[in-house]
Amino acid sequence: MKKSLNILSIETSCDDTSIALVKCSGTLKSPKFEVLYNIVSSQIAIHRPFGGVVPNLAKREHIKNLPKIYNQLLKKEKGLERKIDAIAVTVGPGLEPALWTGITFAQELSAKLKKPLIGANHMEGHLYSNWLSVAQVKSSKLKVKSEKTTPYALRPTTSIKFPAIALIVSGGHTILLHMTAINKWTKLGETLDDAAGEAFDKVARMLGLPYPGGPEIQKLAAKGNPNAIKFPRPMLNKQNYEFSFSGLKTSVLYYLRDNPATNKADVAASFQQAVIDVLTKKTMRAAKEFNAKSILLCGGVSANKPLQNTLRKLAEDSGRNFVVPDLEFNTDNAAMIAVAAYINSLQKNKRRLKIEAQGNLSI
Ligand code: KG4
Ligand code: ZN
Repeated sequence: MKKSLNILSIETSCDDTSIALVKCSGTLKSPKFEVLYNIVSSQIAIHRPFGGVVPNLAKREHIKNLPKIYNQLLKKEKGLERKIDAIAVTVGPGLEPALWTGITFAQELSAKLKKPLIGANHMEGHLYSNWLSVAQVKSSKLKVKSEKTTPYALRPTTSIKFPAIALIVSGGHTILLHMTAINKWTKLGETLDDAAGEAFDKVARMLGLPYPGGPEIQKLAAKGNPNAIKFPRPMLNKQNYEFSFSGLKTSVLYYLRDNPATNKADVAASFQQAVIDVLTKKTMRAAKEFNAKSILLCGGVSANKPLQNTLRKLAEDSGRNFVVPDLEFNTDNAAMIAVAAYINSLQKNKRRLKIEAQGNLSI
């Protein structure tokens, strides 16, 4: 049997078109990943005038970008197609017209190269992006989005220990998982209404900030006082692991209506603090209840530095290790899809995902 598997992965569930090539090896107990390429083409500029993602525009852009990115990869890596062992594609959850573009592209490639096609769950991708934080990445070949990324090969490798608690916070989901192994978890709770990222995006809009709102709020919040306004901490004192952000969003709306002359930076900082308080306190409560050794943070909102810093401190102060992917892997990317596909392919008895767009696929 071959020692490693080169997986070419494709991600088009929302507004990022991404193709990655990841060398995967190892077992479920100690999988290893080397990200050879991770190319992400963001459509932010196209959706920005509409204040959010327009599914049909996303579809049109993915159709345009997929062959472009693939050709870029063909040019960069000599004999690329001979090196691909399998193809992975996100089948859900996400916007179905967008998902189909990636699926169709992947199906054609799989037929052309005569290589197996593996469907992947986008949320498992986010979860497994934590394993990229301990991965080796050929930084010289990598298109790095952030300037501050530490060269991966120089970074000490942290291990992920079980039991673990994983908080997945993205534009569409807020999920808390209790993991007893890389492939075994139970969902402790999720949001009853808006996802954390959705709340960031909606509050940003109220403040007149462009889409996507998360990074904009983080920037503005840095100039404000997080204790200036006492926004509610929804569900914080409920003894369960569910979340709700819609009430918080509404109280920001009313606050802005009643205080038109307010300092917007204070609103951004106080809102962000309310979200951080709820997310981190519930995560730590779960960590204590389940004796977690590691705490994993992932999904687009995990790019939020104050959130990372707060959870890292709480985790480490209580003797747990804290794992969060690098900025490049927080938001949507194809590298995480290759990891999800590989981990699934190691589980011979797990039911394979159907290769069709599944907008509401759950984790
Ligand atoms: O995971 P992701 O890229 O796409 C989905 O699967 O939804 O997450 C996108 C979400 C958006 O709501 C965006 O505003 C939020 O992640 N986000 C952030 C930050 N960067 C991205 N939220 C807070 N702070 C950030 N720095
Ligand atoms: Zn995502």
